[in-house]
Amino acid sequence: MATIKLCKAADVSPGNSLRIEPENLPPLAVFNVEGEFYVINDTCSHGDASLCDGEIEDGEVECPWHNAKFCIKTGKALTFPAVEPQQTYKTAVIDGEVCIDI
Ligand code: FES
Repeated sequence: MATIKLCKAADVSPGNSLRIEPENLPPLAVFNVEGEFYVINDTCSHGDASLCDGEIEDGEVECPWHNAKFCIKTGKALTFPAVEPQQTYKTAVIDGEVCIDI
């Protein structure tokens, strides 16, 4: 297992997200939900939309293309048309940097 740094925690304010394109990984979405950080795959499991372009509310993100909602914490698809979950990553803030284990 390896820990990789994605961004500074200060770069993602509460209620917002940031798309990161790390080497050798799919595009990732870093979310700040009331001060807690979560990382899931950014590309919607239903199509090619970026979830970072979606609306965030109550710990859920709504896909900007067809309005499927996902739980940011678990990656679970909550509404159609998406049925497949988003991959999630174990996330921690270390020395002010948002990091994931892969
Ligand atoms: S691309 Fe996200 S719901 Fe269709």
